[in-house]
Amino acid sequence: MEISSVLQGGYQHPLSRSWQAKRTLTKSMLMYPIFITDDPDAHVEIPSLPGQARWGVNKIEEFLGPLVKKGLKSVILFGVPLKCEKDGKGTPADDPSGPVILAVKKIRELFPSVYIACDVCLCEYTSHGHCGILHADGTINSVPSAARIAEVALSYAQAGAHCVAPSDMMDGRIKAIKTALIGAGLGNKCTLMSYSAKFASSLYGPFRDAAGSAPSFGDRKCYQLPPTAKGLARRAIQRDVNEGADIIMVKPALPYLDIIADAAQIASDHPLACYQVSGEYAMVVAGARAGVYDLRTMAFETVESMIRAGCTLILTYFTPQFLDWLDE
Ligand code: PBG
Ligand code: ZN
Repeated sequence: MEISSVLQGGYQHPLSRSWQAKRTLTKSMLMYPIFITDDPDAHVEIPSLPGQARWGVNKIEEFLGPLVKKGLKSVILFGVPLKCEKDGKGTPADDPSGPVILAVKKIRELFPSVYIACDVCLCEYTSHGHCGILHADGTINSVPSAARIAEVALSYAQAGAHCVAPSDMMDGRIKAIKTALIGAGLGNKCTLMSYSAKFASSLYGPFRDAAGSAPSFGDRKCYQLPPTAKGLARRAIQRDVNEGADIIMVKPALPYLDIIADAAQIASDHPLACYQVSGEYAMVVAGARAGVYDLRTMAFETVESMIRAGCTLILTYFTPQFLDWLDE
């Protein structure tokens, strides 16, 4: 054998194996997606997302308290309004007594160390379930969509969110939000994390169940990216960097590792997030339950692959479990 063929000497020990990683998973790299509903006392399990639930504002202390003790550093909030009046422009999204704004204030008060991001989108709040404002013919009306989304983002920032994260995929929304934040004196107080490369994916199914945000007609293929569209993803990432995004996100994560690797090059001076979405989580759990692999080993393999591809922040429903696993 050639001397240069012998690689195993470099990773024969658990410690030398750990040195092979450029970056290793830490608790601060995890952001936990949580669902807050408008029944303040709710704790309702979500069948398609095993282990996850919709929580009411009065239950946040009991829900997050134990996780904060274990080292939870950040959450991303999704509002699940069940009682509100939905309309064409998603009026309930920034209702000051709606679940997201109340939860931001509550978490800031209860857990001042926790970094709070808010997903910003209209689909949970529009009568048609689309992520923007529509023309009469059902197509997206981009300009008012971006303006409305910026309004919602600003109200979350004013409520105390450390980060706003638009997931709608409307053209121009990053510039609109950044401009609104700066105009309100929050340019230096709120991070703008863009779901830049968000693909039209089957993997959002359990989330739409959980959040009640499936479109009432059609699909999201005219704003979320085609799964084949590497070029569009690269352009969207570059555009959002230019429009003022502070963090770039790729979503879903595991089937799109090539896009994460591209983003790490294109936005090399930005933190890079990826979202291990509801369907990815459900697949890992289902496979483990079917005896295909060990849950913990597989969960680590998925997020370590995302880190290897270049991301520095992972949104994952496995966060509570990783807080335990990383202590073992
Ligand atoms: C809302 C939104 C979705 C997700 C995050 N924000 C669903 C969608 O776009 O259809 C998906 C998250 C997940 O599946 O875990 N626009
Ligand atoms: Zn949406």
